Amino acid sequence: MVRVMSGIQPTGALHIGNYLGALQNWVRLQGEYEAFFAVVDLHALTIRPEPETLRRAIREIAIGILAAGVDPDRATLFVQSQVPGHAELMWILSCFTPLGDLNRMTQFKDKSTQLPELVNAGLFTYPILQAADILVYRAERVPVGEDQEQHLELAREIVRRFNGLYGATFPEPMPVRSTAPRVLGIDGEAKMSKSKGNEIGLFETEQETWEKLRVAKTDPQRLRRQDPGRPEVCNIFSYHGYFSDAATCAQVDRECRTAAIGCVDCKKLLARNLEAVKGPIRERALALRADPGRLDQILGDGAARASRVAEETMAMVRERIGLPKAGAGHG
Ligand code: TYM
Repeated sequence: MVRVMSGIQPTGALHIGNYLGALQNWVRLQGEYEAFFAVVDLHALTIRPEPETLRRAIREIAIGILAAGVDPDRATLFVQSQVPGHAELMWILSCFTPLGDLNRMTQFKDKSTQLPELVNAGLFTYPILQAADILVYRAERVPVGEDQEQHLELAREIVRRFNGLYGATFPEPMPVRSTAPRVLGIDGEAKMSKSKGNEIGLFETEQETWEKLRVAKTDPQRLRRQDPGRPEVCNIFSYHGYFSDAATCAQVDRECRTAAIGCVDCKKLLARNLEAVKGPIRERALALRADPGRLDQILGDGAARASRVAEETMAMVRERIGLPKAGAGHG
């Protein structure tokens, strides 16, 4: 069975960009492929979170993944740091990654200009750990948003270099894009992102979301209620495309253009359809929070399953590059 692998960082609460760009596809793919989904806590260390904040975020992200519909009977859900193969393979792959390749990574450039005080070696080598996450399962498909495609391109480069030297070891992992590969934030300008503060949280209440939608940007040329709107440039209309059915989208399109509805009407309709998706996710998350033992069990089983596969890969890698077997004496 072909494998898929993907991960989310525990660096803040999940938002609808994560849901639309990645999680929805995780749920869709879990039946068709052998799926490995990770809370990538080692990646989160690059921003040096407080230990208690990190501990809580790891559990909250796992809860969000399950609440969004990932089924632990059909997919392996685990915490990255509990599977040692990720960090071990990362070291090995870093010896096959030219600095020039890392220098080209736009996320590193963006993050290091945003937070210059946080530039550390981990942030620079981050994409190699991401490659290791995928390759340690020899995964062929990676459901992610558009912002991760450059990292996947690097992973494929690493695969080609490694396979060229040691024979076919890893498949080249390909991204799986969702229908919403780049969801904009409520500012209507930048990608929705935990670090930009322009997100709609997946666990937010209806009221919290409404407060944000109420002031969210629409067509900048529609200044008065009676002005006709242009849905094609309105970010709120793009959200309708994700959460409202085709008939509603067509109606909003028509009534916005003729000024039959105003921006507030359009936002109210969106708020209702958004809540129809978020409400059940919030409910499932509540149930999961109330049963911490069950979450421990799911993540424990997941780590054990993931470790078995990762260990198979690592045995093969060690053998090919000339390292001794793990834990074996040197005889
Ligand atoms: P992270 O934690 O920033 O985001 C998790 C997933 O959500 C997607 N995403 C979006 N999609 C559409 N529109 C948006 N505005 C948006 N914001 C986020 C991301 O593309 C991602 O799929 N480096 C990764 C985590 C990672 C990983 C991996 C992913 C580590 N190892 C191995 C895949 C495979 C990251 O920071 O994602």
